[in-house]
Formats: sequence, C-alpha cells, structure tokens
Amino acid sequence: QKLQLNLEQIEKGGYEHFMLKEIHEQPKAILDTYRGRLLRDQAIIKMAGVEDNMKKFLNANRIIIVACGTSWHAGLVAEYIFEDLARIPVEVEYASEFRYRNPVIREDDILIAISQSGETADTLAAIKMAKEKGAFVFGVCNVVGSSIARETDAGAYTHAGPEIGVASTKAFTTQITVLALMALRLSRAKGSISSSDYRRHLLELEMIPGKIEKALESDAHIKYIADIYKDAPNCLYLGRGYNFPVALEGALKLKEISYIHAEGYPAAEMKHGPIALIDENMPVVVIATKKGHYEKVVSNIQEIKSRKGKIIAVVTEGDVQVKEIADHVIEIPETLEPLTPLLTTIPLQLLSYHIAVLLDKNVDQPRNLAKSVTVE
Ligand code: G6P
Repeated sequence: QKLQLNLEQIEKGGYEHFMLKEIHEQPKAILDTYRGRLLRDQAIIKMAGVEDNMKKFLNANRIIIVACGTSWHAGLVAEYIFEDLARIPVEVEYASEFRYRNPVIREDDILIAISQSGETADTLAAIKMAKEKGAFVFGVCNVVGSSIARETDAGAYTHAGPEIGVASTKAFTTQITVLALMALRLSRAKGSISSSDYRRHLLELEMIPGKIEKALESDAHIKYIADIYKDAPNCLYLGRGYNFPVALEGALKLKEISYIHAEGYPAAEMKHGPIALIDENMPVVVIATKKGHYEKVVSNIQEIKSRKGKIIAVVTEGDVQVKEIADHVIEIPETLEPLTPLLTTIPLQLLSYHIAVLLDKNVDQPRNLAKSVTVE
C-alpha cells in the first residue's frame, strides 16, 4: 500500500492533486498541441486531417459540432472562432440532444465531434447517426486510438497527455487550440482573413503558453479570493462573446468539484433573470477583458455593484476602469480576442480548485461524476 501511495505521489509530480498538476501543464500541453502544426516562419498551418479533406471543408454547407460537458464548451468557443475568422456557419449541439431529435443532416455538412476520452456514448452515437446520413465526420480527441478516433473519417488529436482529474482542464484548452488552428487554416484557404491578420494570429497563438505561465502567477491571489467566497451557496459567472462559453465552463468547474451551485450566463442576459438573484451574498465572476465588448461588460458590472453583489473580475493587465468598481480583480495578459478563452479560463480553473480544496472536497474524483461516460 505504501508503494502504491508513493507511485501516486510520483504521478502527481509534486502537486497535491492531479487537477492542479494538469492546470499547470497547460502551457506545455498547448505547445505540444501546436508543435509541428504551426510553422510560423513559413506562415503555414499543417494538419493532415484538414489538408487531406480540404475540398470537403471548403464546400461545406455548415459545420455541426457535437460534444458533451467541457468539450461542448470548447465547441461553443470554436463556433465563435470558425464564424468570425473562417465565415463558415456553425451549430453546436449537445450530443445527447442531437442524436435523439430528428436533426437535418445533409451530405455537405461536416460534423466535428469533440471528446477528451473519445469514449463518450452520446457523442459516439451522434457520430454514427451523422455518418449514416452521409455527412463527413471529423474528430478532435485526446485519447489516441479511442472509439471516437476510430469511428470518425478524419481528425486531429489534442496532445494534452493523460488527463486524470475528473474535472477537465488541459483537455479544454488544447481542444480550443486544435479548433483555432483549424479555423485559421480554413480562413487562409478561403481568403476570409488577410495575410497580416493571419500572421498576427499565428504569432499570438505561439505566445499563449508563456502568457498562461503569467496567468498562473495569480495563484496565491486567487486562493485568497477563494477563501473569502468558499461558503457562498451560489455563484454567478458572466461573460460576453468569446468569453460567454468561458463563463459556462467556469461555472461547471465550480459545480463539479465544490458542489456549489453556479450558473454561467451571457452578461447581457443578466437583466432577463439572474439579476433578480443578486444581493450582498452573491459572488459574481465577470470576465471583463479589454478586447470584446469591454464597455458593455463594465456597465453590467455597475448593475451588479448597485445591487450590492460581490464582483470578482478577470481583467486585462493594466486595467483601471474595472479595478475601481470590482471587489477583486485577477489580471491576465493581453491577446487577440479569439484566443482570450485560453487565458481567461485559467483563473476560473484555479478559483474552483482552491474553493474545493478549502472545503475539503475530493477534487480529483468528485462524487457522482465519472471521467468518461460510456453509458447513456
Ligand atoms: C464527463 C467528464 C467531463 C467531460 C465530459 C465529456 O462528464 O466528467 O469532464 O467534459 O464527460 O467527456 P469527453 O471525454 O467526451 O470530452
């Protein structure tokens, strides 16, 4: 038993939990994911699965993304990136809903299935259905040789390495990395992005690992914030645009491991419901980065403030406006708007991690949850 314990400690690489180790592995996981694919000197993105099927991608009527859980959130981020840069219409579906309704799937549709484990039963069933209807199916998986990787027509692996913590962290950011690479490659092929913009995105993507390292430096400050709010029964997460899916993912992380009820919402929708919940006991995590509807988010923050809600804001380095009104700010480095989710996610992962640890919950194996859901 002693030997077993030691083995586990070695596997955790000096971290107290797998989740914390995996949060800290993100710079490397992202680097491993774009290595050999992003060739910045030549301004090239090389992805065999995309290249070999370029005609299909260019002629696609639309892209349907299917996934579950955190992977579904990565799909939502991808929707924004694909539509913004590559101008391809995208729909994002929960695999479980998609497969059980009677969806319209045409032969010129592309289905992208996103799955860390590659074994999620609903996602696998959605793939089989789309294939039967003649759609081309592309997989974004982490586990090599998994069922979904085998069932899809083509694909691109995330190179996150094994993810042990049930709450997904590095799989999420590497999925966004793969999908951003795909969107950039397609936008270049379609001519929907200028050459200089394209190069700027490649350069920025290459700088993401370093910027995540920087974001991770807020760890102690985030732990301090976690200690203040750990006993809150509820928590609201708000974001707009590219950061709306990040708000959903932040709320999911908190629910999964701390068992605190949390909801993610598009910031502008707050006035259609969640605002009724806000009082002095409600912590609200707001993603308010400089790029992306900043002024609008600032006015959302003011609305929360006037109802005495407690504001924890994720802001861009050097921010002054939000700092004046928020109770706490967590800074992240600046990047291009489509890539901000890769940075804004980091403090939210750490926040839920620290809250769960302070509450003495089983961070790596939360109750009732499984790492891979192979049943319906
Ligand atoms: C489970 C896991 C989640 C994961 C989801 C989808 O619910 O606990 O972390 O996001 O399944 O899994 P997949 O392997 O398909 O990405």
